[in-house]
Amino acid sequence: TEAELDAYFEARIAGDQRIEPRDWMPEGYRRTLVRQVAQHAHSEIIGMQPEGDWIASAPSLQRKAILLAKVQDEAGHGMYLYAAAETLGVDRAELTERLVDGRQKYSSIFNYPALSFADVGVIGWLVDGAAICNQVPLCRSSFGPYARAMVRICKEESFHQRQGYELLLRMMEGTPRQRAMVQDAVDRWWWPSLMMFGPPDAESPNTRQSMAWRVKRDTNDDLRQRFVDMSVPQARRLGVTLPDPDLAWNAERGHYDFGPVDWAEFKRVISGDGPCNAERIARRRAAHENGAWVREAATAYATKHGGGRTA
Ligand code: ACO
Repeated sequence: TEAELDAYFEARIAGDQRIEPRDWMPEGYRRTLVRQVAQHAHSEIIGMQPEGDWIASAPSLQRKAILLAKVQDEAGHGMYLYAAAETLGVDRAELTERLVDGRQKYSSIFNYPALSFADVGVIGWLVDGAAICNQVPLCRSSFGPYARAMVRICKEESFHQRQGYELLLRMMEGTPRQRAMVQDAVDRWWWPSLMMFGPPDAESPNTRQSMAWRVKRDTNDDLRQRFVDMSVPQARRLGVTLPDPDLAWNAERGHYDFGPVDWAEFKRVISGDGPCNAERIARRRAAHENGAWVREAATAYATKHGGGRTA
């Protein structure tokens, strides 16, 4: 019976066993995973845009090669994640439709512009740093395909974070103007990076159930705090100031205190009204439409040679 299946499922979760695609799972669990994994996949693909703009004007061949590799990795991450979502019975084409129609979200962070080459460094340091902080625990997510995709993605994200930090170290050894570019980029990306972890726990509708199902392993606020704690010494080493006058070590808590996040801005950005939302979606939609002939050709080829298996 359904009750027995549910009890078996809950026992497996409690025993920290992985749930695999062929296993029975409650509809809510499936829906939560489709939502989170698809949103994560969309974020990787949309996330190619802010930095992708700099590939053609990177300041050296070496920087161009690094950036190209990084942006290609993000495409790869999107592919692993769409593949993980497909094991839950949804179709990637359908997920893409939901993204370009605005029915599914992607990370708020990618709605901010990359205004200078220092932004490439800061995106690597802070945005990929925040992504690692959020994703390392997801390597222990209860759904097997998602957790396994995370292992590989986190390894590549570490490289992304290091290349960003190394670029910033170089720029900070440069001219006053280069140092000012780095500080300006830090000022613009710091608060949006804190928003990547999602709303405060008290206002997060999904956290409690996702933690109970072990889809998520930590709460939004705990991960945000971990990120602040790890970023402060890195900022000091770099020689930049984080734009928060309330940032201070709290010996009693053993953590850094930080100022209030502008949640009104977060809500505006996730509801479609951030600085670059319209542009990001328009480009994604155009890329999808321009690629239609490739999908049609691949499907026709597969039908002819592969016994009807579609691309
Ligand atoms: N940007 C856009 N939407 C967000 C963000 C954000 N930074 N944070 C939360 N939301 C959305 C949630 O998706 C949810 O909306 P929905 O119910 O319509 O899906 C709503 O705000 C409320 O948030 P929560 O209840 O806290 O949602 P959830 O439990 O899913 O937690 C979180 C959000 C932390 C982002 C979680 O989904 C997660 O860990 N996802 C995997 C990581 C990820 O997607 N990273 C993408 C950016 S990193 C990168 O690509 C480099």
